[in-house]
Amino acid sequence: MVIKTVILRKEENAELENQASATIDLITYDNKKAINELLHLQDIVSVDVEENIFHTSPKEFVDLYFRNGWGLGCYYQNRMIGYIMIQLTNHHEIENYPKLINFDSEKIAETACHRGVGVHPDYRGNHLQVILQDTAADLLRKSESYKYLMCTVSPENTVSRNNIFTSGYVCLGHIDHIYRNYPRDLRLLTLSATDDE
Ligand SMILES: CC(C)(COP(=O)(O)OP(=O)(O)OC[C@H]1O[C@@H](n2cnc3c(N)ncnc32)[C@H](O)[C@@H]1OP(=O)(O)O)[C@@H](O)C(=O)NCCC(=O)NCCS
Repeated sequence: MVIKTVILRKEENAELENQASATIDLITYDNKKAINELLHLQDIVSVDVEENIFHTSPKEFVDLYFRNGWGLGCYYQNRMIGYIMIQLTNHHEIENYPKLINFDSEKIAETACHRGVGVHPDYRGNHLQVILQDTAADLLRKSESYKYLMCTVSPENTVSRNNIFTSGYVCLGHIDHIYRNYPRDLRLLTLSATDDE
């Protein structure tokens, strides 16, 4: 299901001459082809990124996220060039972000988790991280079932950290006991209704 179209301006640091249109599509658990493409893209996006700042999610975790949530894929010329994963429920006990900021059980049930975003190296610089994050947050607002969206980010992942800040997340703490003990900021977005709804 196509959620929106976006115009790409850059490909491998070159300006795209004509207006190149990509789509943002919803990915659900039944779409195994898209989930496999996402797993493949996850490997590609991590190639030039140091392992301390970005940790790919193993297949069984990606499966868990989609069984209890959904994702968005950005497609250009029938190829996935960006993704985001959103887990709605059944937070993993160790990676229970809302619990880590001392949310009570009621608020934990109202919290969805942003479980990772990536953009193919050839298409970076098109603000796709922010577009994917903001589109995911808009879908959650429309569902009216969630009040919060949380994620983690490495303090050294400058581009992602800035983009998470741009999307309105605030930093509520730090952890260094998961993700191979590399430090992570705990970020929270409050999903209040926007004016145009
Ligand atoms: C983080 C990430 C999703 C951002 O991609 P993006 O949305 O295309 O980034 P932006 O459009 O905001 O890029 C802003 C600028 O930073 C540059 N940039 C983006 N990612 C970069 C990277 N990994 N390394 C160096 N520069 C990068 C862009 O080229 C752009 O430069 P410009 O202003 O000169 O045009 C992408 O770098 C990525 O997939 N990284 C690996 C996975 C990761 O870290 N995910 C986030 C943690 S969950």
